[in-house]
Amino acid sequence: MTEKTSALSIRRATEADMDALYEICLKTADSGSDASALYSNPKLPGYIWAAPYGKFEPDFTFLLDDGEKAIGYVIGTPDTAAFSARLAAEWWPDIRKIVAGMQPSAPLDAGALERIANPDRPLADLHAEYPAHLHINILPGAQSSGWGRRLIETQLEALKAHGAAGIHLGVSPTNEKAKGFYRHLGFEDISRDGHVIFGMKFRA
Ligand SMILES: CC(C)(COP(=O)(O)OP(=O)(O)OC[C@H]1O[C@@H](n2cnc3c(N)ncnc32)[C@H](O)[C@@H]1OP(=O)(O)O)[C@@H](O)C(=O)NCCC(=O)NCCS
Repeated sequence: MTEKTSALSIRRATEADMDALYEICLKTADSGSDASALYSNPKLPGYIWAAPYGKFEPDFTFLLDDGEKAIGYVIGTPDTAAFSARLAAEWWPDIRKIVAGMQPSAPLDAGALERIANPDRPLADLHAEYPAHLHINILPGAQSSGWGRRLIETQLEALKAHGAAGIHLGVSPTNEKAKGFYRHLGFEDISRDGHVIFGMKFRA
């Protein structure tokens, strides 16, 4: 840990942090690298992978803060099926109105618009053992200093305290750093249906 990264802290997000969620998501959305050039609308990845957690799961939205601004997050839900149903009713309809008429012009626009139109369905066979899921994203300057481990531990404690039986998370097949990180932290490879998925059970 450098002098710069030792002064960071973890806190729960508030409504005032929504812009930071969008920003951090964009800056790490290309398999961990900056995706600013890949989306014509900088909020597109955040609509899918960040903002709904801040809005609907504030108890499981933790930020890494440098004293002035958020520079990383771990976000998640204890119940992926219930979260997905809530987004279907209360999130996607509004986001579809916002992006209506948007013509894809940057490389990842079309994929994001397709996900907004047809969101990923939770994998039913994961629900009993791994009902929770999370996403973690730290801006490059604060990576590799132990804060990823601390953020994950904070989230896992919150999910266990809530009573979740276990957790799963998806990883881009090309994100070698993240795959090594999750393995090192004790997650198991439970990939299925062509998706790279890691999981951890909280109960024997
Ligand atoms: C992936 C990410 C969350 C990891 O966080 P980090 O702060 O860089 O990792 P840490 O420094 O906390 O590492 C924690 C431990 O994992 C180990 N580790 C990290 N990456 C590893 C790898 N690729 N292989 C093996 N071990 C690894 C570290 O050595 C450290 O070990 P220790 O605690 O036993 O000493 C972070 O790099 C990140 O946000 N990347 C960009 C966004 C991203 O890819 N998110 C994941 C999307 S699925």
